[in-house]
Amino acid sequence: MRIDGRPMRTIWVGADGWSVEIIDQTKLPHLFEVAALRSMEDAARAISHMAVRGAPLIGATAAYGVALAMREDASDASLERAVAVLGATRPTAVNLHWALNDMKACLGAASPSDRLDLAYDRAAQICDEDVETCRLIGAHGLEIIRALAEKKDGAPVNILTHCNAGWLACIDWGTATSPIYQAHHEGIPVHVWVDETRPRNQGAFLTAFELGQEGVPHTIIVDNAGGHLMQKGKVDFCIVGTDRTTASGDVANKIGTYLKALAAADNGVPFYVALPHSTIDWSLEDGLRDIPIEERDGREVTAMAGRIPGGEVVEVDIAAPGSPAANYGFDVTPARLVSGFVTERGLCDASREGLLSLYPERAREA
Ligand code: MRU
Repeated sequence: MRIDGRPMRTIWVGADGWSVEIIDQTKLPHLFEVAALRSMEDAARAISHMAVRGAPLIGATAAYGVALAMREDASDASLERAVAVLGATRPTAVNLHWALNDMKACLGAASPSDRLDLAYDRAAQICDEDVETCRLIGAHGLEIIRALAEKKDGAPVNILTHCNAGWLACIDWGTATSPIYQAHHEGIPVHVWVDETRPRNQGAFLTAFELGQEGVPHTIIVDNAGGHLMQKGKVDFCIVGTDRTTASGDVANKIGTYLKALAAADNGVPFYVALPHSTIDWSLEDGLRDIPIEERDGREVTAMAGRIPGGEVVEVDIAAPGSPAANYGFDVTPARLVSGFVTERGLCDASREGLLSLYPERAREA
């Protein structure tokens, strides 16, 4: 995808050949700043402070974090420590552990003298594979949009999304946004309702930013507007990403996703979840019981960052002083509320059987 017309990914190796560069997403959409990660600790901080966020990008950053650790010390102890430190940064997105397990398996089998090059190569492969995975998710999801467009007689297909499951959350394309971009590139008229997604505003800040950069028509709405729009027939389908999906098809995603799924079910609006294989946690059965839900600082609820017109970016208090706040980062949408999954291997039912029809090789684990 592009920023100011320039093709970009969300993470890359810097001109020095070893530091890792990211777009500092805490500054978007007000400022575009690139930050350099020069140590495993920098990578861990970038994940926990949400300079990078979104399940696939968290995994890719962790993979490069391991590479940075190998640069300082390629011993077994250093590899173990990197996996432990990076693995403790955020609890809900399973791609983090998927990427760390992958790096550990790849490097653990090699001698320390080979680990540095191997680590950078494998991290780069994880990124390249994610790009292709997201492209394929888009190609399959495009079929849904094409079918809806045929019934709309030239009117735009209205799509509602929550949080940011766009290219900024991945390496390129995005998961939930990939079908939207591919439809737009094909000339199918689309319009996206963008949930603002409090408390961190990933919708208003990031999804709106990237859709705008790509020229996709969109409208930001407050988080509570989706149900009303669905009642009025103004949403043709919903598509969201996920941070962890169980083998039985329960979906953890940004807080508020469950309420959108409930409203969609009540109004007969299809509700799809786009996901790569790395987001499926084959070891878990019951999402509500088993998926760890991140709880973040209440300050994210009681304050908001924004830009003074023409001026600096500031944080302002928006709540009654002294009132406590609870800040749950994610919720779980039960499989029964999900119309289907859009994966790199195609579409399937949100169920164990559905997932296994696309990933039969996981039958023994699920
Ligand atoms: O807390 P974040 O910004 O890391 O959460 C990201 C999400 O929940 C996204 O909606 C997403 O779908 C998962 S990443 C494709």
